[in-house]
Amino acid sequence: MATFISHSPEETFALGERWGRLAQAGWVVALQGDLGAGKTQLVKGFACGLGIAARVVSPTFALIHQHHSGRLPLVHLDLYRLETRAQIVNAGLDEHLFSPPGVTVVEWPERWLSGGAVVPMPAGWRWVQILQTGESERNITYEGIES
Ligand SMILES: Nc1ncnc2c1ncn2[C@@H]1O[C@H](COP(=O)(O)OP(=O)(O)OP(=O)(O)O)[C@@H](O)[C@H]1O
Ligand SMILES: [Mg+2]
Repeated sequence: MATFISHSPEETFALGERWGRLAQAGWVVALQGDLGAGKTQLVKGFACGLGIAARVVSPTFALIHQHHSGRLPLVHLDLYRLETRAQIVNAGLDEHLFSPPGVTVVEWPERWLSGGAVVPMPAGWRWVQILQTGESERNITYEGIES
């Protein structure tokens, strides 16, 4: 487990960009954090690090955005509007959560963990938690990603 203190949206972008350059096929990166924590900001950097030129915006309403112009295909999920694992499966999104051909980044991954009696923590996921510790300060803790 490692921690990065970000002092600006640009620093969060730069961290994501570094991870995007390191990313390998099959990665699933779960991004936890409250509304406005900076999950999408991190994904913008991640996409840039993968060489994706397209503008990255939050898939809050679409649930999923896919980008194919980078070194690896990137699937960007935002599960905020779904409540249970069943809803995620019904929306056909679960296929992206395990061994994707490219890389999947997931905002609100806890939606997958709720609504089940026995809930194993998916072993292949890389976890990132963003805590807002100030107006523009964020405490970013992560596991499974080299820094
Ligand atoms: N250090 C920082 N890192 C990231 N974002 C920051 C930072 N400081 C301020 N911000 C601001 O916080 C906001 C983060 O918004 P963002 O859309 O990335 O959040 P989110 O976690 O994706 O929220 P949501 O759950 O609504 O999707 C942006 O307006 C950004 O400019
Ligand atoms: Mg977001």
